Amino acid sequence: MKVIVIIPAAGLGTRMSTAARKHTPSKQFAELQGVPILLRTMSRFAETPEITQIRIALRKSEIPLFQDILSKGTPETLTKKTVLLEGGDNRQQSVANAMTGVEAAEDDIVLVHDAVRPFVTSRMIHDVVEAARRYGAAIVGVPAVDTIKQVERTAEGALIKATIPREKIVMAQTPQGFRYSVLRKAFDEAAADGFIGTDEASLVERSGQPVAVVMGSAQNIKITTPADLELAEFYSQRKP
Ligand code: C5P
Repeated sequence: MKVIVIIPAAGLGTRMSTAARKHTPSKQFAELQGVPILLRTMSRFAETPEITQIRIALRKSEIPLFQDILSKGTPETLTKKTVLLEGGDNRQQSVANAMTGVEAAEDDIVLVHDAVRPFVTSRMIHDVVEAARRYGAAIVGVPAVDTIKQVERTAEGALIKATIPREKIVMAQTPQGFRYSVLRKAFDEAAADGFIGTDEASLVERSGQPVAVVMGSAQNIKITTPADLELAEFYSQRKP
């Protein structure tokens, strides 16, 4: 049974820097201890034996840049499973592009993982694969520790409308994993309805498929802001 991972990495990372305006490489190319974040993320999957193929969606202009990074001393054991392809206008389109050309049976597993979550562990990957096999769809998540407020945005700022009981909240992380047939159906339905979600599970939920949650970790951060980058520097000094 195949396990294919899709890494959408075609964003601009505009919350991190002025990359979009300055045409500088996007946030996944920032280095931690001299190693680009995307290479770290990719390596976590390449080192996991159950992963068959890694499909990375990049901005067209950044494909040669990442090819160059891979050709400079990255061991063949890490690169042999990797396919680079062009992403789309949003995350969902980038994942859809990566799905095109996937050769998979209905029961094979497709994982999707954020390019900027380099601290994913083989335990998390394994748990999501197992839960996706069992339930059809599964994500990594962590319980909410903060109190969550629903707000209404106004010109002056946000106004609280309600407090959402936090025991009912899980913060979604990645990897998110699906049987190929489940993800294919959810993407086809979303495209037909013009629905754009912020993660793959939201597409699968609306197609009526239950999605299981397995335990993630507070360290499985999505490096989004300069403060996250500082924390990531700290984590990357330790052994994974
Ligand atoms: O913007 P956000 O942080 O939600 O992006 C999540 C992921 O989707 C990132 O890994 C980003 O590179 C990717 N993405 C993409 N194609 C886009 C926009 C975002 O692959 N057009």
